[in-house]
Amino acid sequence: MSGFGNVENAMFGKSIFKSESTLYPEYVPIELPTREEEIERLVRNFRSLLGQEGSFSVNVAIVGDAGMGKTALCKYTMKRFEEAANNRNINVKFLYYNCHSFRSKTAILRNILSEHFHIQSRGFSDEEILDMLVKRLTRERIRLIIGIDEANMLNSEDILSIFHAGEYFGSEQSMISTIVISRPIEWRSLLNVPLSGHIHDQIDLPGYNRDNLLQILEYRAQTALYPTSYSDETLNLIADICASSQNARHGLEILYRSGKLADLKHESFINPEYIRAARADVYPELRRDVLKDLRQHELLAALSVARKLSIKGITSTTVDDSYESYVLCCEEYGEETRGKSTFRSAVETLHKVGIIGKTVGPIEEGKRGRRAKITTFDIPATVLVERIHNILSKSKDYYKI
Ligand SMILES: Nc1ncnc2c1ncn2[C@@H]1O[C@H](COP(=O)(O)OP(=O)(O)OP(=O)(O)O)[C@@H](O)[C@H]1O
Ligand SMILES: [Mg+2]
Repeated sequence: MSGFGNVENAMFGKSIFKSESTLYPEYVPIELPTREEEIERLVRNFRSLLGQEGSFSVNVAIVGDAGMGKTALCKYTMKRFEEAANNRNINVKFLYYNCHSFRSKTAILRNILSEHFHIQSRGFSDEEILDMLVKRLTRERIRLIIGIDEANMLNSEDILSIFHAGEYFGSEQSMISTIVISRPIEWRSLLNVPLSGHIHDQIDLPGYNRDNLLQILEYRAQTALYPTSYSDETLNLIADICASSQNARHGLEILYRSGKLADLKHESFINPEYIRAARADVYPELRRDVLKDLRQHELLAALSVARKLSIKGITSTTVDDSYESYVLCCEEYGEETRGKSTFRSAVETLHKVGIIGKTVGPIEEGKRGRRAKITTFDIPATVLVERIHNILSKSKDYYKI
């Protein structure tokens, strides 16, 4: 086949996917099997917003490990909640923020004002911005619900002041409610007494058991793939693999990647060997799109740490050691080198988004004190190097165009 034929075949040839995009990370499924109880509980929490006389501000936390469906539960439920309220002429607005992209209270508030109310707030303080928002909501009688996902990227004070904004005119006149989403360890580090006093309900999502996972896989495969491309055995094999992590993303990523492998090999069926190959390539704790939310200098910091850690025999590194590697990475990619304190805060961000792990260990013999040791978290260093390199070289090409 000529080169052109290859391109055409990949573009228009057969695929086992009837709707590939329904397996993309940002897709919210039309149904959420096995989460009926949690959907109902979340909705019931916000019933007080629907009263005629005034509405009470509600703050709910959704807590659960990776891939337990926290984000999906929030988006799925609140979209329907908003629609159902609006159909009955109750002005509810749900806005979702992922704090990997929006990393401060200010960034969230400014975006709400500019994107949704067309008010420019540059030059105003946080208090003034909140004041503008609350006045606008009150005037238009809008009950705003803000979904704050990956909430550990903010600090407790930021979250608390969003809660306080909700109670601006006393709790009976509240216009802002929130849903705060986090994994359990991060949630524990965020939660303090003042914050917990404002949480009306905490929904702890349990992990998915094998039956749940099989049900989810059946539903998602039915939407994404042609029925002849897989069998019960295919889905059972994947459910066996992800039963230990209890993580739906783990199973869905394996389904997606094994499907892509079948396409690449021009096969019309997902063979077990593709599932086994895909399994080795999936890191269940790491969201596929997490690298996309990083700034350029954070990607370079991640690359430098990962390069250090991919050297044979090295299992951990330090800020000082990886900073040297960072300087080289910046040169290689033609980027301006930032100072060590910026590098240190980039490492902190990488830790918060779950790309790298940190432990505190004693420093070399003869010196006193302890210093943070950096390791990769879920994904092997060599794989991380490759993935970041792909992103950085793509963005370089982009700038050239
Ligand atoms: N009950 C379900 N039915 C169908 N799909 C589901 C269900 N639960 C989760 N998923 C899918 O599994 C994947 C992971 O779910 P989600 O992103 O909501 O997890 P999460 O708890 O937010 O994880 P993280 O802590 O990593 O952000 C998504 O693709 C989501 O659509
Ligand atoms: Mg999530």
